[in-house]
Amino acid sequence: MEPTRNRPISAEKNLPGAVKYGNKIDIMDKILIRGGGTLKGTIPISGAKNATLPALAATLLTSDRVYLSNIPHLVDVTTMLELLGRHGAALTIDEKLGVEIDNKGIDNFCAPYDLVRTMRASILVMGPMLAHYGQAEISLPGGCAIGSRPVNLHIQGLRALGADISLGNGFIRARCKRLSGARIYLEPVTVTGTENLLMAATLADGITTLENAAREPEVVDLANMLISMGAKIRGAGSSTIIIEGVKELHGTSHTIIPDRIETVTFIIAAAITNGEVTLTNTQSEFLTVPLEKLRQAGVIIEEEGGNSLKVRSNGNLQAVDFQTSPYPGFPTDIQAQMLVFNSMAAGSSIVTETIFENRFMHVSELQRMGANIQIHGNSVHVQGMGKLVGAPVMATDLRASASLVLAGLAAEGETLISRVYHLDRGYERIEEKLLALGAEIKRLSE
Ligand code: UD1
Repeated sequence: MEPTRNRPISAEKNLPGAVKYGNKIDIMDKILIRGGGTLKGTIPISGAKNATLPALAATLLTSDRVYLSNIPHLVDVTTMLELLGRHGAALTIDEKLGVEIDNKGIDNFCAPYDLVRTMRASILVMGPMLAHYGQAEISLPGGCAIGSRPVNLHIQGLRALGADISLGNGFIRARCKRLSGARIYLEPVTVTGTENLLMAATLADGITTLENAAREPEVVDLANMLISMGAKIRGAGSSTIIIEGVKELHGTSHTIIPDRIETVTFIIAAAITNGEVTLTNTQSEFLTVPLEKLRQAGVIIEEEGGNSLKVRSNGNLQAVDFQTSPYPGFPTDIQAQMLVFNSMAAGSSIVTETIFENRFMHVSELQRMGANIQIHGNSVHVQGMGKLVGAPVMATDLRASASLVLAGLAAEGETLISRVYHLDRGYERIEEKLLALGAEIKRLSE
């Protein structure tokens, strides 16, 4: 197939297979699952959404071409491509999950409300655009279903690097001649905040030290990409990152790491359906804490070769307590899915959410499926029932949607999930992958 080139990108036309997998967001789409079956087979894990978004934003740091591979076909990725296209990038998408980004033509520095409101991570273009072009105008993201999610640390950090930033009419307006290195302490730990400042600091004069930096594998992947573009970065993966600014960055070719959240979601799917599933193209080293918990809970997870995991239940799943925390702790992005696991297991458990306020929206939907979960502030008490029953439910955010799919797979009878557009933001071809494992699942479009 001939690669397509155009500017600005019309995502719907240019991502092969993308219309089918979610670019045409139909908010009326529903997913129907007949649960109770056993999942069996092998599926590949996609590239990580949360590594792809900063990698795409990082291309704004150079006018050379950048080639990214292992890009997942997701609505959030399409939104970021659309945003780069609006800034003036030329994008060439090939059939090998690769995108070439050519930013020579960048001439628009505004990230508008219609895109930012659909994806908060659009804020990631602010640091690189400001550092390379001296200006950026980003719509303020506003609240979302899992809490207020401020961006004050992004703004404070860029100010510390010398940017002149004003807020007004719902926009953040940032200007600078050239950024200069600074010592920045981030409290609380912020993933996209660390990434934004890391990118900006690569082109600042002098040395920047990010303290209490996020240690997520996606931050390390971004740092590796930036180093391959000529950036001088030490300490990524630890809580202190030191960046020595350089005059300019050059093009690169970079492969996105596997999606650790998708990996655990499928591990839970295999365990609670008493299945046997092999996950390929993944990396267990990013998952030490959640895999340890799942093993404790009775999930048998065997490493096969360098990048495959073979998963099955020991037939006697036990609920586990945990609390979410920044990497390397238990990821908040797996909390909702684990509530389903604990509901299907034996025993009671306490789960505490420490990262986001209001991230228990899925609880009331799971209760409708028979889950015995009580909310107490930022903790829940789950009484394992060993079973769930199908019901009509509504997805409220990305990971909550995944928990409802898991619940539907394990439940007796039919589950109809509405508002599944949340799911399309972060799970590539989820129905197709589950169908390949023998699930009875279909998308209903009105
Ligand atoms: C990223 C992930 C998201 C994940 C989250 C936590 C991406 C694209 N998204 O989101 O999937 O759930 O990390 O692992 O990578 N905070 C502030 N001020 C700020 C920024 C953040 O107070 O300026 C607070 C937030 O309200 C939250 C905490 O810091 O309580 C962590 O949020 P953060 O790590 O920034 O989340 P995101 O980067 O948005």
